[in-house]
Amino acid sequence: MRSEPVPAPAGDRRSRATAELTWPGKRVGHHAGLVPVPSPARASWDVRGRLVCGERADSLLLRADAGVALAELLAAPGAVDGGVKLCYLDPPYNTGERFAHYDDRSDRAAWLSTLRDHLLLARELLAADGSLWLHLDDSEQHRARCVLDEVFGEEAFVATIIWQKRTSRDNRKAFSSMHDYIHVYAPAGPKVWKSVRNGLPDEGAFSNPDGDPRGPWRSVPMNVQAGHATAGQFYTVTTPTGVRHDPPPGRCWTYTAPRLAELVADGRVYWPRGGDGKPRLKRYQSEVTGLAPFTIWTADEVGDTGSAKRALLSEFPGLQAFDTPKPLGLLERIVSVATDPGDLVLDYYLGSGTTAVAAQRLGRRWIGVEQSARTVEEFTLPRLHAAWADAPGGGFAFGAF
Ligand SMILES: C[S@@+](CC[C@H](N)C(=O)[O-])C[C@H]1O[C@@H](n2cnc3c(N)ncnc32)[C@H](O)[C@@H]1O
Repeated sequence: MRSEPVPAPAGDRRSRATAELTWPGKRVGHHAGLVPVPSPARASWDVRGRLVCGERADSLLLRADAGVALAELLAAPGAVDGGVKLCYLDPPYNTGERFAHYDDRSDRAAWLSTLRDHLLLARELLAADGSLWLHLDDSEQHRARCVLDEVFGEEAFVATIIWQKRTSRDNRKAFSSMHDYIHVYAPAGPKVWKSVRNGLPDEGAFSNPDGDPRGPWRSVPMNVQAGHATAGQFYTVTTPTGVRHDPPPGRCWTYTAPRLAELVADGRVYWPRGGDGKPRLKRYQSEVTGLAPFTIWTADEVGDTGSAKRALLSEFPGLQAFDTPKPLGLLERIVSVATDPGDLVLDYYLGSGTTAVAAQRLGRRWIGVEQSARTVEEFTLPRLHAAWADAPGGGFAFGAF
């Protein structure tokens, strides 16, 4: 993906939203009360923890409160060398439920304050070309969007992904909710971030029926909606067999006539129906750089809550299932889009460890923080040991405080 340096962010990374959400007890200012406070264990505790897998601590699991861990990471020189390229967050959603492994009932003001405090710290750890992905449901997602706008600036908003979390209907509810939201923000803004993110693999069928020396290709239409067309995109095309075509109604040719002629001369145009059809552009497999992800991700593509739970149950038969694991397929897609091998991934609501497992499998470094000792012992640590055994490379340390 990238090799050239990324331009500095267009906007001020700390720019505020033009409108702001407020709530009782909200701290004023961007750093109020957020000066990193060393934990009591700090004097004797190194932020890199104790090495538990491999030969060097590329990655780190912390059993700690997110706020304390983030402050420690910020205070420790070199703890996040090069910055965090991807921060994926799947916090308690404030659903009002008490799960077996964590309590998801919080006073709204406290929930928002914690979210904001943590985001302000995470922002300082992000690389200039990094991104933060916040996963929520309808309980708080609309309020959280306002907080994200405030912390990162409205211009840092990239997209909201709708993830299909279930496929079965829940008839107890007025509407059967089948999706979550993942808000994506990049401090550098969507344009710069697009130049460093990875596209999705193009699964289209390529072939080489004409023995093109550039290798396998497939064809795509050469006309587009006429909305932003210039006059030069409206003309009559004559095919090699002499058939004349105007653009379809409401559309124009993708290229002007001189550019089309260049592409034809370069052998990059395919004329279907034995040379009678409208021109189509040859897309070569070797030149495909990946597809822009859609904003709707289905259970078929990346898994759903049910498949994530079943996978975890088969890994840990006999244990009470972790309540809200995310599917590995979902995290592998996020990690693949947002990072390259060797980049650093952070998740400070790690739960059963899915983000770190995905990062480990894909050759990324990771830092995971989870406050529940039971979750870490039952799921996170064993999963990460297994992931490391399957895909070694580097190692990871474990610390707790
Ligand atoms: C929705 S779950 C994350 C699930 C995770 N994505 C997975 O695939 O397993 C949220 C997790 O955040 C943890 N958590 C909540 N508050 C925290 C805090 N202040 N610091 C660290 N972890 C916290 C909870 O214990 C819970 O495990």
